[in-house]
Amino acid sequence: NNKHLIAPSVLAADFGNLARDVQMVNQSEADWFHIDIMDGVFVPNISFGFPVMSAIAKHAQKPLDVHLMIVDPDRYLKTCKDNGAEVITVHYEACTHLHRTLAAIKELGCKAGVALNPHTSVQLLKDVIQDIDLVCIMSVNPGFGGQKFIHHTYTKIKELRALAAGVNDNLLIEIDGGVTTANATQLLESGADVLVAGSFVFTADNPIDTIKALKDIDIN
Ligand code: DX5
Ligand code: ZN
Repeated sequence: NNKHLIAPSVLAADFGNLARDVQMVNQSEADWFHIDIMDGVFVPNISFGFPVMSAIAKHAQKPLDVHLMIVDPDRYLKTCKDNGAEVITVHYEACTHLHRTLAAIKELGCKAGVALNPHTSVQLLKDVIQDIDLVCIMSVNPGFGGQKFIHHTYTKIKELRALAAGVNDNLLIEIDGGVTTANATQLLESGADVLVAGSFVFTADNPIDTIKALKDIDIN
């Protein structure tokens, strides 16, 4: 049982001190940078785009895990890779030809992820599960940091782990939204591999210790 990964979400960083906050994550026990790209169409908010992501990539010493909350993500996969992405996650709800999109992400040499909105059943991934490297289960409605965690997420993690069993045992299950030390243990016990945390990390008095607290959770 491999140790879980921690991916601080840069969305909650201080954009006026971005290099400083990226350095903080470099020096912490975090595993990845979670990068939230929003288009104001797929989600009711606009975060930042590829120029900012590339500025982050210049300072980041850990992989960039890019969460594309955009319509028609196929148009930006290559740009995303060229600006430093190692994991590219698209939304199930934004992809008409998901199988083709996943193949295109892998063709670029990136890990291919699929994010599910809270209302989207994990069962919808049944016929494509063997082609996915990571599933991001949204535990809030995408678009904003600092929202309240949705409890049904635990059930979805277990269902997804069962769906992938024997077909894709290397599948990474990532949880995104409202993650704190209060729910992290139960998320990991349910079968999560990657925890994204934005406001919980960046509004903490000591972000480095907060990342360590999430990383140090032991479930055996
Ligand atoms: C929400 C984003 C999340 C967000 C999480 O649309 O996908 O990655 O940054 O923020 P917190 O941890 O504050 O819920
Ligand atoms: Zn995200």
